[in-house]
Amino acid sequence: MKLAFVGKGGSGKTTMASLFARRAASLGHTVMAIDADINQHLAAALGLDPEAAAMGPVLGERLGGIKEYLRGTNPLIPSSELMLKTTPPGPGSRLLTVGESNPIYDEIFCDVEGIRFAATGGFVDDDLGVACYHSKVGAVELMLNHMIDVAGEFVVVDMVAGAEAFASGMFTRFDHTFLVCEPTLRSVGVYRQYAGYAADYDVDIAVIGNKIDDEEDVDFLREHVGEALIGWCSRSRYVKAAERGSVGPISELEAPNLAVLDAARERAAAAGKDWAKFTRQAHEFHRRAAEAWGNDRTGIDLAAQIVPDFVLGEHLLDTQPV
Ligand SMILES: Nc1ncnc2c1ncn2[C@@H]1O[C@H](COP(=O)(O)OP(=O)(O)OP(=O)(O)O)[C@@H](O)[C@H]1O
Ligand SMILES: [Mg+2]
Repeated sequence: MKLAFVGKGGSGKTTMASLFARRAASLGHTVMAIDADINQHLAAALGLDPEAAAMGPVLGERLGGIKEYLRGTNPLIPSSELMLKTTPPGPGSRLLTVGESNPIYDEIFCDVEGIRFAATGGFVDDDLGVACYHSKVGAVELMLNHMIDVAGEFVVVDMVAGAEAFASGMFTRFDHTFLVCEPTLRSVGVYRQYAGYAADYDVDIAVIGNKIDDEEDVDFLREHVGEALIGWCSRSRYVKAAERGSVGPISELEAPNLAVLDAARERAAAAGKDWAKFTRQAHEFHRRAAEAWGNDRTGIDLAAQIVPDFVLGEHLLDTQPV
């Protein structure tokens, strides 16, 4: 399952994404966690030394290599310059699985307590006026578009705050979107905004309340988000201690909060995957990017890279080029 954690700035996206990933990994699931936020905090939340994490290679700087790898022998993508972040896989493309080993994972990902982790890389001064956030997350979008994840595997993406996520098709790349929401008007406002955009794309959003102190907080969320609310995490001593540098074993998270993570995971698993929709939307966003700027930049019709019948899914696992 591909899962996004979204919400207002400071609502707890990174915290919930890291707790979710750690819980799933502790139960034996194969888990990948990707920090796709401008503010990169997921490494620290997973318990990595932030300075050590900052030294490693990041996805945003390896876009060229990732394109080169993923295009494989696809004859419709004769060079990585002709590959946009939206270019969908086709015959000959290299597809990814969550648990495999490949040169991209070996170079860019590291292992944190059994979780395969990578970051897009933060926004540095050199980026100002040169690169935008979307070029940083392009590598993530490409990887998601080439990823065949199966039941019991989780790709957890910590997303950028607020509505920034809608500037590309990235928000449609998930089987399930968890919107982390504090019991405040601004936080439910972000939910409404997200739900409004998402409705047009059949994106499944579940709200997880966070920093809940009492029944009044829960009532507030129920009133404002209704049935989308699937559970809530209390203000947590465990999270506070982690914030002070002491990340305890995930089993020590308060039991009701663990139960929320489990319910979220089970809900996502039960909802299942819709590969046809995933592929259809990938094609749609590629067509749009091609028309909006890609064709002009490359001088060719990039929509011709779309192979309509090439639907991503488990049936392709046996057809991988070596
Ligand atoms: N359930 C909780 N209990 C206590 N503190 C929490 C909880 N959830 C989040 N926090 C704290 O709230 C702050 C913001 O959380 P976090 O960084 O996860 O939010 P975010 O949505 O990822 O923020 P940003 O938009 O900056 O990326 C952090 O200090 C975190 O430790
Ligand atoms: Mg964050």
